[in-house]
Amino acid sequence: MDSLFHVIEAQQFSRDIMDEIFGVTREMENVVSRYGSNILNRRIMATLFYEPSTRTRLSFEAAMYRLGGEVITTESAREFSSAAKGETLEDTIRIVEGYADVIVLRHYESGSARRAAEVSRVPILNAGDGPGQHPTQALLDVYTIQKEIGRLDGIHVALVGDLANGRTARSLAYLLTKYEGVKLYFVAPEMVRMRDDIKAYLTEHGVAFEEEDDLMSVMSKVDVVYQTRIQRERFGDRIQDYERARGKYIIDVETMSTLSENAIVMHPLPRVDEIDPAVDTDPRAAYFRQAHNGVFIRMALLQMVLEA
Ligand code: NCD
Repeated sequence: MDSLFHVIEAQQFSRDIMDEIFGVTREMENVVSRYGSNILNRRIMATLFYEPSTRTRLSFEAAMYRLGGEVITTESAREFSSAAKGETLEDTIRIVEGYADVIVLRHYESGSARRAAEVSRVPILNAGDGPGQHPTQALLDVYTIQKEIGRLDGIHVALVGDLANGRTARSLAYLLTKYEGVKLYFVAPEMVRMRDDIKAYLTEHGVAFEEEDDLMSVMSKVDVVYQTRIQRERFGDRIQDYERARGKYIIDVETMSTLSENAIVMHPLPRVDEIDPAVDTDPRAAYFRQAHNGVFIRMALLQMVLEA
């Protein structure tokens, strides 16, 4: 079996290691219902966050506490850590690795998790590197699809919204290439279409994909609709582009009418207005269940990297 150390990008995972992660994740659901365990007793996790987060940071912290570990944390690290004094990411990592057994890093630059891993002796878990990737989110997304739909091979998924800057959609596309007969539909406003690096990777790995404009017609063809937020923070002063992208694809009660009965709607959250709250009570709205799976996945990852 492959062993797990740094978690940097979705392409690093094999189908075998994902099966193993999902197996441990299912056990973690039981651990949580028994109010946790002590397997990571006295181990310390550092969360080093240079960009805003609610779910990712709190679910990692909850995961560590559920396993009996300890947490040290810095949020808003861009403003409040030594980065504000000009310290490089590499130097910060060299310091924090002396304080903690694992480092969870969210940073505003694509490639930052890889840079951190190059200098770190303790595992680095990428919790989002700018518009790059968000591999632990993609693992919880795939776990959610398996749990809700019951299979991954042959799954048809629509990725909707900001596909150029949305790191969750990018990582999910990479991860789905591990399964057979997957079909992807990309539905994105023109200025934030899926980037060529992912399309080339999909082609190379034999995954079928189509770019579509009409969300309603795509809704009727898929098992999963994965809606995403237009990533305002990546637009800089291009406010007009942002405003044009926003509001183009909204999931509301009317769009839901074309989605099949057994299909689901997912969203990494936070949402702005791309899913109407009136949809929340529809049993096919899986996004809150999806967010809860994040704790179980992160417990599994922490156990696996710390026991390796
Ligand atoms: C996402 C992120 O930070 O990339 N949130 C998350 O981690 N669940 C999605 C987003 O911010 O739109």
